[in-house]
Amino acid sequence: MHQADALAWLRENPLPPGHAALTSLPDSSELRRLPFAAWRTWFTDAAAQTLRSTPACSAAVFFQTDTKRDGLWVDKAQLVAEGARGAGGHLLWHKIVCRAPAGRATGGRPGYAHLLCWSRELRDAVDRATPDVLPELGAMTWPRAIGLAAARFAVGWLRDHAGATAIVDPFCGVGTVLAVANAMGLGAIGVEVSPGRAQRARELRS
Ligand SMILES: C[S@@+](CC[C@H](N)C(=O)[O-])C[C@H]1O[C@@H](n2cnc3c(N)ncnc32)[C@H](O)[C@@H]1O
Repeated sequence: MHQADALAWLRENPLPPGHAALTSLPDSSELRRLPFAAWRTWFTDAAAQTLRSTPACSAAVFFQTDTKRDGLWVDKAQLVAEGARGAGGHLLWHKIVCRAPAGRATGGRPGYAHLLCWSRELRDAVDRATPDVLPELGAMTWPRAIGLAAARFAVGWLRDHAGATAIVDPFCGVGTVLAVANAMGLGAIGVEVSPGRAQRARELRS
């Protein structure tokens, strides 16, 4: 567990073979020091750097929830795609994780999240399809957490289809992904800029 700026850490620590990334890049509401346009650029750069630091034959999975801002939709799948394509990546799959039951209108944030798998060289096996719509997000350890069911699905996929023996979450918050990876028998490395959250991530795993 590293308390550090993820982009600097990723630049200095390209991930070794056997490692895959699973992360949630921070929303603009978490980076208030940046005007919205600057956050957009930061977000696409962060997606690019995450994929660039992931071994070419492995994969990076992003769990992201869109936002609605000033009457416009902020599509984070598109922003991840801008960054990941710039890093030479290809989309292996794009799953929808239900945050609310289908058919229910939601106010602030959409009723679904994106689960996006990008890789530079890995290709998905066509004869081993996995569900495209995950009906359950699962419990959340805090409001910005990845849901436990979505995390278990992504860790299992990276283990079974990308050869991952360790999962890296460069924006790990309180360490949900790391705890799920450890519980499923994988190693885990986290990076988090907030000292308080980094400490909570250490405590969650001890
Ligand atoms: C969406 S949350 C991640 C939540 C996490 N998946 C969990 O379940 O706890 C994004 C996290 O990125 C962290 N963060 C923001 N900027 C960062 C940076 N430059 N380097 C590392 N972490 C950063 C935030 O403090 C926040 O905890």
